[in-house]
Amino acid sequence: MVSNFESPSDRGLQNLHFSKVARSGAPSSANGSGKAIEVDHIVKKFGEFTAVDDVSFLVKEGEIFGLLGPNGAGKSTLIRMMTTLIPITSGVARISGYDVRTDPDDARRTIGVIPQALTSDIDLTVEENMSIYAKLYDVPTAKRKKAIDELLELVDLTKWRGAQTKTLSGGMRRRLEIARGLVHSPKIFFLDEPTTGLDPVSRVAVWEMLTNIKNQRQLTILITTHYMDEADRLCDRIAIVDHGKLVALDTPPALKASVPGSNVIEAQFESAPADWEQMLHKLTGVTSVQHEGAGMYRILTSDGSRATTDLVEAAVHAGVRVKSLSVQNTTLDDVFVHYTGRQLRDELVKAYGFTMPSRPGMQP
Ligand SMILES: Nc1ncnc2c1ncn2[C@@H]1O[C@H](COP(=O)(O)OP(=O)(O)OP(=O)(O)O)[C@@H](O)[C@H]1O
Ligand SMILES: [Mg+2]
Repeated sequence: MVSNFESPSDRGLQNLHFSKVARSGAPSSANGSGKAIEVDHIVKKFGEFTAVDDVSFLVKEGEIFGLLGPNGAGKSTLIRMMTTLIPITSGVARISGYDVRTDPDDARRTIGVIPQALTSDIDLTVEENMSIYAKLYDVPTAKRKKAIDELLELVDLTKWRGAQTKTLSGGMRRRLEIARGLVHSPKIFFLDEPTTGLDPVSRVAVWEMLTNIKNQRQLTILITTHYMDEADRLCDRIAIVDHGKLVALDTPPALKASVPGSNVIEAQFESAPADWEQMLHKLTGVTSVQHEGAGMYRILTSDGSRATTDLVEAAVHAGVRVKSLSVQNTTLDDVFVHYTGRQLRDELVKAYGFTMPSRPGMQP
């Protein structure tokens, strides 16, 4: 959500550093297991309120994994637990095989985190923001310049390296933060709503950049979003979260296929007979028919092209005029409605209709 709210955890991230403990040997699951992130029955309670409610999932190495859900679903809270920023109430999270509770320093060494709030220092230059992070993460001096050069090139900010961060647009600042989060070559990259508040062109630029980065580096990406198109286009698999619970998890095509009816026909008729709705139910592959008033019907079918042909033939036969007709594939919107019983966009309108609610009893 776009807000000036900056959580204590986001601020804390600027100071995210780990004590220089002797590196313990990586647990056996860290190498070659193919598991980047394991979340097992994780719960987060703030007082009596359960923000994350018994969530489990596994992210494979090299995946782009999306957490999709409306405002307040628990996406940021999940990320904060996985990245060691807030304590877990119960359950286990393992990052590259390291239990974040018992081996937080080792877990932190393998991750890069882009929190929801922008955290780059606006009074520093682009390059200074990068070098501070490189020093913080102990990137050897000899490698620092090369790493910064490569990353600024990757996010298309090379010619802005000397510019003060306050002069950058929102999209450019996001790109700087993405580059900064990669300066210590993490294996797993967490991004919390990296495109919220950006214009459509900047959003697409960030998507392309993330796909390039993932293809060029061996990286696992976990991204949160409430944009359906973003999740659909970017993610290998998507977990839908609602009220702190995981309600569905699969690839975008499999999620769409799990909704009865893979095409949606929207049609408006004139002078349709009384039994028209029953007739629509008989078209090929139809799983549901909704009458939306004024002769308009929304028909879900597993075979859009045959059902459309049937429909036109039936209309000609019955002397019914088809005023409008459109056929679309099932979208992630239909998936969200199917699993939660409501529209994600309605939820967002509700949330954006208010100013950011204060969060009573704010606690770590
Ligand atoms: N520190 C805190 N203290 C108390 N309640 C909190 C705290 N952090 C989050 N919450 C509550 O937990 C729930 C989940 O919040 P969270 O920020 O994880 O949602 P989100 O899915 O990231 O939403 P958004 O899309 O708005 O960023 C919300 O009801 C929120 O008010
Ligand atoms: Mg959030």
